[in-house]
Amino acid sequence: MTDTQTMTLTVSERIDDRGGIARIRLTGDDLPPVSAGAHLDIYLPEVDLWRQYSLCSDPAETGFYEIGVLKDPASRGGSVEVHRIAQPGATLSVEGPRNHFPLEESAATTVLLGGGIGITPMIAMAKRLHALGKPFTLHYCTRSRDVTAFYDELTAAPFAGRVVFHHDDEDPAQKLDLGRDLPAPSPDTHLYVCGPQGFMDWVIDSAEAAGHATANVHREYFSADVDLTGDTFEVEARASGLTLTIGPDDTIAKKLAEHGIKVEVKCEEGVCGTCVTDVLEGEIDHRDQFLTDEEREDGDQMCVCCSRGRGKLVLDL
Ligand code: FES
Repeated sequence: MTDTQTMTLTVSERIDDRGGIARIRLTGDDLPPVSAGAHLDIYLPEVDLWRQYSLCSDPAETGFYEIGVLKDPASRGGSVEVHRIAQPGATLSVEGPRNHFPLEESAATTVLLGGGIGITPMIAMAKRLHALGKPFTLHYCTRSRDVTAFYDELTAAPFAGRVVFHHDDEDPAQKLDLGRDLPAPSPDTHLYVCGPQGFMDWVIDSAEAAGHATANVHREYFSADVDLTGDTFEVEARASGLTLTIGPDDTIAKKLAEHGIKVEVKCEEGVCGTCVTDVLEGEIDHRDQFLTDEEREDGDQMCVCCSRGRGKLVLDL
């Protein structure tokens, strides 16, 4: 990933917002510019995890980055650790910004759909579209108004009239109705979705069934319940002259590391793209959310942190 920079950033402000979401502002010297949809990779040394957090700050803002972090005790501990350490004055090791979720700024119609904490990149996109004078609608779905972070900011924003809130526990008529709320498909209409897996599947499947082109339904997965297990297969690291057996509970990246072949990994669940590796031969069993359908069909790259193979894979390592 060539767009990566490593930085030490300081927590300049923290707001504990509704729904267990901490809004964390980070400052540092000469912050690299960002585009809407970008995220930061944050290293958490105590739990030895890298975690990805979308920026919700205005991409035009040069003095700080802002992220929103949902404290999720059911996760592998990353968000709980961020909540613990991200106190004003603390420093964090950060890489990025990276953007795997860029905005098509020339679109005639843009609809942003955020579920829960998936609202964060949508806020940056809304700010950018507003600055460009582009029409858009932002749909924000949460369980209840009481757990709706960014509520005050969004209701006071200059584009507040473009934000539609949907709460599970209120009048059914105000819930997101994709048959009613999605625009008609067209080459100039772009949809963006981020949120929990079930929300994303529902929006993506409904949009594609309604005729929206896959390439116009942009998606950002922030965590994934990925099954890392499967049948035994072989991996040949051709340039290294090594052939390894990957057992039912092994991952390719870990097995390679045990034998001295280091592939950089961050999320370890197929969402960030850090570990994408070229495949020279073999059948890939893709488990990630990062590669597009077209890239999967090409069959020449894979996420070695989670994806597997059938029979034998030959990697360009
Ligand atoms: S490390 Fe993130 S996709 Fe593999």
